[in-house]
Amino acid sequence: MCGIYAYLGPRNGIKIALDGLKRIEYRGYDSAGIGAVIDGKIECYKDVGKITALEHAIGSLSSNNVIAHTRWATHGKVTKENAHPHLDENQSVAVVLNGIIENFQPLKEKLASEGIKFKSETDAEVLPHLIAKLYEGDLLKAVREALVLIHGSYAIGCIHKDHPEELIVAANGCPLVIGVGVGETFVASDSNALIHHTREVIFLSDGELAKITPEGVEIYDATMAQISKKTEQLLHSVEEVSKGAYEHFTLKEIFEQPQTVRNAMLSRFFEEYGTVALDGLNLNVNDLLEMQRVLIVACGTSWHAGYVTSYMLEDLARIPTQVEVSSEFRYKNPIVPEGTFVIAISQSGETADTIAAVREIKAKGAKVLAICNVQGSTLAREADGCLFLRAGAEIGVCSTKAFTSQLVVLSLFSLLMARMRHMSKLEGQQYLHALQKLPEQIQSVLEAAPLIEKIAKKYSKYSDFFFLGRRYMFPTALEGALKLKEIAYVNANGYPAGEMKHGPIALINETCPTVALCADKVTYDKLISNLMEAKARHGKIIAIVHEGAKGIEEVADDVIYVPDTYDEFAPIITTVATQLFAYYMAKDRGADIDKPRNLAKSVTVE
Ligand code: M6R
Repeated sequence: MCGIYAYLGPRNGIKIALDGLKRIEYRGYDSAGIGAVIDGKIECYKDVGKITALEHAIGSLSSNNVIAHTRWATHGKVTKENAHPHLDENQSVAVVLNGIIENFQPLKEKLASEGIKFKSETDAEVLPHLIAKLYEGDLLKAVREALVLIHGSYAIGCIHKDHPEELIVAANGCPLVIGVGVGETFVASDSNALIHHTREVIFLSDGELAKITPEGVEIYDATMAQISKKTEQLLHSVEEVSKGAYEHFTLKEIFEQPQTVRNAMLSRFFEEYGTVALDGLNLNVNDLLEMQRVLIVACGTSWHAGYVTSYMLEDLARIPTQVEVSSEFRYKNPIVPEGTFVIAISQSGETADTIAAVREIKAKGAKVLAICNVQGSTLAREADGCLFLRAGAEIGVCSTKAFTSQLVVLSLFSLLMARMRHMSKLEGQQYLHALQKLPEQIQSVLEAAPLIEKIAKKYSKYSDFFFLGRRYMFPTALEGALKLKEIAYVNANGYPAGEMKHGPIALINETCPTVALCADKVTYDKLISNLMEAKARHGKIIAIVHEGAKGIEEVADDVIYVPDTYDEFAPIITTVATQLFAYYMAKDRGADIDKPRNLAKSVTVE
């Protein structure tokens, strides 16, 4: 949540930082601001709303030393005063912060008792006041001393009016990447915002600070010892982080899925033995064989991927699997018995609750495998092993291609576990064959986009929906409902169809349609009976069903056919249809699809 961008170099950093902010705007878009050293003064511009509003306010200003911020409000309302940067009283120091200062209240009270007047309601504002108070000519030292006083997770950027050629940045629990250019340096919360300028990057680790000057980048650890850190190479392409011909990133990312699903499988098959080879697992054969129980932690869409996996690991590998929402799990004082293997799923690898859950689990001695998309992310670094999704940058706030890639990678992992236990080689080969067909099957769902758009338009004025499914289609229903809520702002309940009679069916009438996810063959007949019950109460039914299914047209008002596959992989195919349905509903309702209100791409605060 919140994004930082900074620049130090010979070019006009304001233009570069505004462009950078637009690339990380998905991290928060309540308000934005920019601070720059110009002629021995700090100039600061802020505005509520999107970056374009700020751009107009700034006009043609120019500076070589700039910090910028896009905000997702935590402490304090969405106002110009609460937008970053924040300054000290003498306007000497400006700070942008991503994260939370947990002990800001006592610090604020102390500073106020010394006569300092606060201009905002934010936690972040304590920092420039502290830095200004501690400053004796050495900006790095003052920043470091101020950071010692604060508790929390943060990434910061700081400039001083008397240091036109110095930019200080620091990170602790929130991502910050330094892009090393030729004679210029960039800083961003996300490496995707740097790739247009440089591929050479340094990921700051927790507790590290950097002093950036025209001479280069000096990195210091938490004890202020200067350390040397190698630059890393960014691997993704510029095209991956552009919209291309698509109207929205979300649509582009939905349509990328044949390729991203292919990438998730690439060179991971071991066809001859009907199994897979997973580079990055970092576990030996004994670790894998001794696994008695799996615990999955994740949030949001990643939690839904974990939920599907819990069915799959039990079905295919017969390993008892528990799946938990990280934000609840971290406060449970969890029991993690010996033989428990943990899987943490996170597209960004920066979700605060998932990282906290992982730290708690590791303290209890269990091994953690991360399923991540972002290279260098906190989770990828902290887990014992990491399987990358290779889905490319996901810019749309609503997660689409990451979900299907998570399911593919977790299917491969389940298959490996199954083959190491009781699954025969032939069966393993059949599953691999079914996986191989997924990209072209997804393509055929994408080709049904005009039909899905027509159905979405027909229902776009309805404001309450149920998404129903059983077995593998239940977590798929949760995911379908989440998409509709988040991008179309439509109330949607994902529910196990068999539970409807226990209460929710009271809501069914002609104004509350059901999206029925019917592609689980084991429970297909049971689901049809549940749909009959909804139909008998005048509920409209939109069915997403595997080709060849019998009897659905008698029940459903609208039917979307998707290619048939194993029940285990049906969530991958069905989800593409629910993504398109949500997208076209949102479009018809005029919602801000790539940046839905109140949301941010990575939830880096609790
Ligand atoms: O980066 P993560 O996978 O850890 O993010 C978890 C959730 O915040 C995320 O999936 C969220 O629910 C998406 N906006 C859903 O589309």
